[in-house]
Amino acid sequence: MLKVENLSAGYGKVQVLHGISLEVAAGTLVTLIGSNGAGKTTTLRALSGMIAPTGGRILLGGADIAGMPSHAIAKRGLAHSPEGRRVFPNLSVHDNLTLGGFTRLTGARPRGNMPADLDRMYALFPRLAERRTQFAGTLSGGEQQMLAMARALMLNPDVLLLDEPSMGLAPKLVDEVFATISVLRANRVTMLLVEQFAAAALEVADIGYVLENGRIAAHGPAAALKTDPAVRAAYLGAAH
Ligand SMILES: Nc1ncnc2c1ncn2[C@@H]1O[C@H](COP(=O)(O)OP(=O)(O)OP(=O)(O)O)[C@@H](O)[C@H]1O
Ligand SMILES: [Mg+2]
Repeated sequence: MLKVENLSAGYGKVQVLHGISLEVAAGTLVTLIGSNGAGKTTTLRALSGMIAPTGGRILLGGADIAGMPSHAIAKRGLAHSPEGRRVFPNLSVHDNLTLGGFTRLTGARPRGNMPADLDRMYALFPRLAERRTQFAGTLSGGEQQMLAMARALMLNPDVLLLDEPSMGLAPKLVDEVFATISVLRANRVTMLLVEQFAAAALEVADIGYVLENGRIAAHGPAAALKTDPAVRAAYLGAAH
């Protein structure tokens, strides 16, 4: 579904990604873990066209999307729930979700059944259903995170990129976010998940990649990475 080959990217003269390759097969959940500053967010930004890659290929369903503008990439079915949520604060929950599906109305994606999909989101995130008329800017952090995920899902994406959906949340809400990700995985939503909670991410994922200083240092079945002594020592801590 998504195949990244030798991707390089950075900011101005600073190169952050030094030729990374990874693959997300249809219907699987792949997680990208690594220390702060390793380049995880930069990877997702390059994939969704928020920054232009300086090298490599990004194949989405066989077509190379590297360097395309983000709206064109969204039209091809790649949705990005960015770090730090970024919901539209002055719009209601409902309007945020409707905007998430907007690209489907441009003719580029199957239009599907927008009201039914909105209902599906409210079933998946009951908290959003209770708050559908509330301004997104007045939601709690956890609720905004749910809204960001639901808005990305409203694209009916072929691939969903999730950047730290648990960031800044209380433990109970972190559990809820991971439970939701498990539901999406059971529904065969193709996902690339970046997470600070590496142990929890490897628990729900099929495949894991470890990013170190802009290079893939290890990859394999998530269960195998979870028990890999080097990965445990560097990313999972003694307590896990
Ligand atoms: N807009 C930017 N301009 C310049 N440098 C940036 C920019 N965004 C990120 N960087 C740098 O790129 C490197 C990788 O950052 P990135 O945000 O991809 O890391 P990350 O793996 O997502 O880290 P974290 O776990 O802290 O979110 C860091 O050294 C960071 O300082
Ligand atoms: Mg990040």
